Amino acid sequence: MALDTIQTLLHSESARNGITARGWVRTKRDSKSCSFLEISDGSCFKGLQVVVDAALPTAELLPRILTGASVEVVGDLVASPAAGQKWEMQAAELCLLGEADATYPLQKKGHTPEFLRTIAHLRPRTNLFGSVFRVRSKMAYAVHRFFQERGFFYVHTPIITSSDCEGAGEMFQVTTLKPNTPTKPEQDFFGRPTYLTVSGQLQGEAFACALGNIYTFGPTFRAENSNTTRHAAEFWMIEPEMAFYDLTADMTLAEEHVRYLVQAMFDECPDELEFFNKFIDKGLIDRLKQTLAKPFERISYTDAVDILLKSGRNFEHPVVWGDSLQTEHERYLAEEHVKGPVTIFNYPKDIKPFYMRQNDDGKTAAAMDLLVPGIGEIVGGSQREERLDVLEALMSKQGLDPENYSWYADLRRYGSVPHAGYGLGFERLLMFVTGVPNIRDVIPFARTPGHAAY
Ligand code: 4AD
Ligand code: MG
Repeated sequence: MALDTIQTLLHSESARNGITARGWVRTKRDSKSCSFLEISDGSCFKGLQVVVDAALPTAELLPRILTGASVEVVGDLVASPAAGQKWEMQAAELCLLGEADATYPLQKKGHTPEFLRTIAHLRPRTNLFGSVFRVRSKMAYAVHRFFQERGFFYVHTPIITSSDCEGAGEMFQVTTLKPNTPTKPEQDFFGRPTYLTVSGQLQGEAFACALGNIYTFGPTFRAENSNTTRHAAEFWMIEPEMAFYDLTADMTLAEEHVRYLVQAMFDECPDELEFFNKFIDKGLIDRLKQTLAKPFERISYTDAVDILLKSGRNFEHPVVWGDSLQTEHERYLAEEHVKGPVTIFNYPKDIKPFYMRQNDDGKTAAAMDLLVPGIGEIVGGSQREERLDVLEALMSKQGLDPENYSWYADLRRYGSVPHAGYGLGFERLLMFVTGVPNIRDVIPFARTPGHAAY
């Protein structure tokens, strides 16, 4: 049988004798006849209050039990007279598993996220990061549930690849060749240049064109030198790919997906949500409620450009039809114009990768981005170009080596079908549901330009 956790103890139906609780000491308070330890084991937001009678033989350990020490306590779970907690523990025996001295960095006072980033190995023991990473786990499971409930198959697309899905040249090379020695790509481990994947989409398409509805959920890597609060060099992406879907069906699924995850936040992480709303972002619960209240708006790129031009705003980046929307534009649309999530669709084809389906207007591609207040883009997707001749023309225009992508063209050569998909940035989603404003604080060990400690 699994050991009790503080989560299981605090949810006990009745008082229990002879239980064992284990965890790290958050605080210790001494009174004349007894001491109160608050111990936490990370299993849930709340800690367990342990009352240690000064007359206990093992109470002599108390002076050595400081904040951060790990302890094991045997005793009884009894109704707590204190407000805000149903149960507390009356200790019969204390055991000090691991001492922590006064150099333990997580003493009672509050720390800034910047400082806590420098102790990323200890920060999960704080309320903030314990909450973030419990939510991360719950959300990951909810992602799988969402797709599995709908009959999607989970596909493990490769991490090492020779294809540049986004065509942006932002790939980390994977090589066993020694630097500064004259070698040819054929001598490399794989006999050709290889990279860490920026997206599992292309291989996902192969599986969608066989199993119908699939998704990948794995790490992706981008060597883009953007030092922002929303970009990481290593992040996790969820990429569904659906045979027979068009852009409209794709947008509908993405919106349903985001709403499902927001609902899961309310259902499965209520204590963490309340904490984030109180200490991180006071508008969080209202904003998430609005997300559930009504369907997301959809605006074409062309209409979005008109809205931005008519906004009277002095944007840092000028608004020009044909250019990418900048974060300031995306945030204006979501935060001020719509005041909620919004999907922008039919972007200019010339700013989009080779795989997107070309619209009949000769100017736009069947692309979509889902933008949310506070962040901007959290989803990017499209209908895929299923016509072989059109795809081949796009590949040559973007300078791709046809030989390298012949397998991808085969999906159009043999039994081509309309299909579509999207990528949801898992960390961006976590920022949205927690209100945590920096991507470095929703991933256990962040990799950003100049930073790969741990
Ligand atoms: O818009 P992106 O680049 O789209 C793709 O990679 C497609 N192949 C997805 C697909 O259609 N299957 O990335 C998708 C999402 C973005 O909307 C964003 O949420 C996230 O991935 N993302 C990042 N998250 C953190 N750090 C970065 N550097 C990111 N780049 C993209
Ligand atoms: Mg994008």
